[in-house]
Amino acid sequence: MDGSRRWSWCSQACSTINLFIFMVPLILLAAFASLKGPTVCRWGFIAKCSFSFTPPSNSSLQSVRPHFFFLFLLLWKHEPKVLNVSKPWFNSSAPVNESDEPKPRHKQKRKFSILDRTEAILAQARSAIREARHENQTQDSDYVPIGPMYWNAKAFHRSYLEMEKEFKVYVYEEGELPVFHNGPCKSIYSMEGNFIHAIEMNDHFRTRDPEKAHVFFLPFSVVMMVRFVYERDSRDFGPIKKTVTDYVNLIAHRYPYWNRSHGADHFMLACHDWGPETSLSLPHLHKNSIRVLCNANTSEGFEPAKDVSFPEINLQTGSIKGFLGGPSASKRPVLAFFAGGVHGPIRPVLLEHWENKDKDIEVHKYLPKHVSYYGMLRKSKFCLCPSGYEVASPRVVEAIYTGCVPVLISEHYVPPFGDVLNWKTFSVELSVKDVPKLKEILMSVSPRQYIRMQRRVGQIRRHFEVHSPPKRFDVFHMILHSVWLRRLNFRLHHHHQ
Ligand SMILES: *[C@@H]1O[C@H](CO)[C@@H](O)[C@H](O)[C@H]1NC(C)=O
Ligand SMILES: *[C@@H]1O[C@H](CO)[C@@H](O)[C@H](O)[C@H]1NC(C)=O
Ligand SMILES: *[C@@H]1O[C@H](CO)[C@@H](O)[C@H](O)[C@H]1NC(C)=O
Ligand SMILES: *[C@@H]1O[C@H](CO)[C@@H](O)[C@H](O)[C@H]1NC(C)=O
Ligand SMILES: *[C@@H]1O[C@H](CO)[C@@H](O)[C@H](O)[C@H]1NC(C)=O
Ligand SMILES: *[C@@H]1O[C@H](CO)[C@@H](O)[C@H](O)[C@H]1NC(C)=O
Ligand SMILES: *[C@@H]1O[C@H](CO)[C@@H](O)[C@H](O)[C@H]1NC(C)=O
Repeated sequence: MDGSRRWSWCSQACSTINLFIFMVPLILLAAFASLKGPTVCRWGFIAKCSFSFTPPSNSSLQSVRPHFFFLFLLLWKHEPKVLNVSKPWFNSSAPVNESDEPKPRHKQKRKFSILDRTEAILAQARSAIREARHENQTQDSDYVPIGPMYWNAKAFHRSYLEMEKEFKVYVYEEGELPVFHNGPCKSIYSMEGNFIHAIEMNDHFRTRDPEKAHVFFLPFSVVMMVRFVYERDSRDFGPIKKTVTDYVNLIAHRYPYWNRSHGADHFMLACHDWGPETSLSLPHLHKNSIRVLCNANTSEGFEPAKDVSFPEINLQTGSIKGFLGGPSASKRPVLAFFAGGVHGPIRPVLLEHWENKDKDIEVHKYLPKHVSYYGMLRKSKFCLCPSGYEVASPRVVEAIYTGCVPVLISEHYVPPFGDVLNWKTFSVELSVKDVPKLKEILMSVSPRQYIRMQRRVGQIRRHFEVHSPPKRFDVFHMILHSVWLRRLNFRLHHHHQ
């Protein structure tokens, strides 16, 4: 739980950043006036930035959004009866009442046609996904999701294809480097930078026209705020929260979209331990917005129907090269493996019961120098992933990458992509009270069952892989898909007076 965990810039950051400087209009200038920026990576030398935004002048407001009549006329509303993702809604067998879908509103048709059209597209996607549950599997040249790892493989596939066909994300261009439009692409928090860069470079899902967007992305990095805004060792979240609050106020002044939905069609993404705390900057950000978090702790307010859990991936070199793959079960002599610091409430329990207790269970605080950590992952059948200070652990993806069946030992943790993936089919979920029975529980998995689980780990691995540029069904697309599902879970209503 510190800001000093190692981080570093993306290897391609410099060239990428120059592109962004080119694209990102400066805050004090009218929103869409693109500037050709400096060609040096000047952000690299900024020791500390403080942000205070000047509200835009009236004239810039008008030039940005002529459709001012939208304001305050719309309300957002959850429709959990129709769409319930906490239990993946496309997995529900209950018949759905089609008349719950929005009806055309003829009287207001002209005035609201853009939003109506957007919502109509979402409604079509919903019914296509529902129908896919009963249809034959759709063909796909890259990958056809199939198997019990998916709550409903056909619905997921259809939903994925609908996303590719329709989904549009607007990334606010406001905000300055290094805190905005930037993030680490190495280290344990690599996904913050990887996602921000990937969405900003994306021609397919990113739209430059906010009227066409289904969701709006707030492109800040909590890791970068901890590095550049937070006063070291102060334990004061104030400056971080002020940065986020100023930013949201800025975009709420400049565009109608935040106010229109009270933030419900906006999303933020954070892998840093302080991501949930950062989302508390504004009540609407916390309560309404889609929060994409590594630390998906339900007792800290994470709501599976609204928020997205995504994986913490420790990319030491910034790439997954040489990281993937491991031997079959018969070449894994170690039953279970863990090595790591004694952080948080769960690991002490694990070490107390299993450190140096049993030759089949390799549980260590620190590995001896000559022993390779990744070698151990590849030698083990099960890899233990206890929560540390926070619920998320990079060990889950390390296990998946190396073909080791993960054992999640956590409380209140919503595992990544649990809206699509049935974790029970390829991992072991162990409650803290069962830690003493660890060996017994793992031994009770039959060799046949183990081989099946390990094969499934290999099959779902693609959903956790990081590629630059992203590939279909990889972690970037899975994060987007989870956001897409959350967006499908509600619709924006017109407010009738
Ligand atoms: C913006 O417009 C309002 C009313 O039209 C006016 O009172 C106010 O002075 C204007 N502000 C600026 C900064 O021009
Ligand atoms: C949504 O699903 C959850 C989990 O199955 C259930 O507890 C909840 O009651 C559902 N909500 C609605 C409104 O159906
Ligand atoms: C569908 O919903 C409408 C109104 O919400 C209701 O009048 C109708 O009876 C429902 N139909 C079914 C089949 O439940
Ligand atoms: C689904 O597959 C079955 C058997 O493969 C075939 O008979 C049927 O026509 C297919 N249905 C559709 C809608 O393609
Ligand atoms: C739907 O989800 C439940 C768990 O919520 C699971 O038990 C069931 O097997 C799933 N059904 C299908 C068809 O995937
Ligand atoms: C959105 O609401 C805030 C606070 O109520 C207000 O200051 C801001 O001007 C509104 N935005 C627009 C575009 O009207
Ligand atoms: C989850 O959140 C609760 C409530 O804030 C906290 O007590 C608990 O320590 C958190 N879990 C982890 C592993 O951080």
